[in-house]
Amino acid sequence: MEIRKVGVLGCGLMGSGIAQVAAQSGHPTTVLEVSKELLDAGLKRIDQFLSNGVSRGKVRPEEKQATLSRLAGTTDYAALADCDLVIEAVVENLPAKQEAFQRLERTLKPEAILASNTSSLSITEMSVATKRPQRFVGLHFFNPVPLMKLVEITRTIQTDPEVEETVLKFAKGLGKVPIRALDRTGFIVNRLLVPYILDAIRALEEGVGTIVDIDQGMKLGCGHPMGPFTLLDLVGIDTTYYIANIMFDEFRERRFAPPPLMKRMVLAGFHGRKTGKGFYDYASEPPKPNDFLTRS
Ligand code: 3HC
Repeated sequence: MEIRKVGVLGCGLMGSGIAQVAAQSGHPTTVLEVSKELLDAGLKRIDQFLSNGVSRGKVRPEEKQATLSRLAGTTDYAALADCDLVIEAVVENLPAKQEAFQRLERTLKPEAILASNTSSLSITEMSVATKRPQRFVGLHFFNPVPLMKLVEITRTIQTDPEVEETVLKFAKGLGKVPIRALDRTGFIVNRLLVPYILDAIRALEEGVGTIVDIDQGMKLGCGHPMGPFTLLDLVGIDTTYYIANIMFDEFRERRFAPPPLMKRMVLAGFHGRKTGKGFYDYASEPPKPNDFLTRS
């Protein structure tokens, strides 16, 4: 089966990035949001990313125009009826994802493939809530989607091997490097990344080092492109908190348990870049580290 038309459920940070790379790679792409406001914000993010790419000389102006011309936004599930592949990137919450798939399936053609961009929920649990678990895979992108090369492809014990191969080919066509993972919470990358990130928060709570020093330590000492707190602010402290909770529920191991500070930051709305405040404060450039632990 050839994937031509792509649908994306959700036009947040991940959904907008996925819709952008699909359209940029030549696929007619329709992205769905629950409200016009969220849709407009997501489409604006795509426009800005492409404009930024043009300013950097990475995207040709005509490529930007062609990408936008292949991209449509909608709040109506029926607009996705003729998609060959629909990638779900809604909030990291099982009932919300299951409901989105069920609404989608009311109009979707039977042979279409369903994929979830979940980073921690069970692909099997989502797939069995649909009428096509054999045509269901995990397709996990990384943030920022247009710049990160990796995609994790997850099959379940029910996934048709031909579906997995079709999606693998599709991911390569987006210019990504796919790796295969089994349906285990966190797949490969988050299984290793999440305990590391949570340990960085624990080190901060214990006063081992400051936000800036821990970030510098991992950047310059291990060659990471960004330190754990800069990364947390990019991915979203709320998102990482949900992922950690799901992983803790699955494995019952302390290394996946979100530290108390993280919970309080989520409650207080310190979600990272997207709320202007996280481990750093983004009101000024360069962002300033937050001193909430050392303030007397
Ligand atoms: N359009 C096109 N290209 C662009 C661009 C744009 N809008 N913006 C930047 N670029 C290009 C740049 O020109 C540059 O290209 P070059 O390497 O050829 O010179 C490249 O992208 C890198 O951009 P910058 O130089 O501006 O920025 P950095 O070098 O700091 O890289 C980064 C930015 C790629 C985000 C890098 O910091 C990084 O890799 N960070 C780690 C991100 C990460 O770990 N993500 C995974 C998070 S976990 C996750 O998502 C899983 C989830 O489940 C939680």
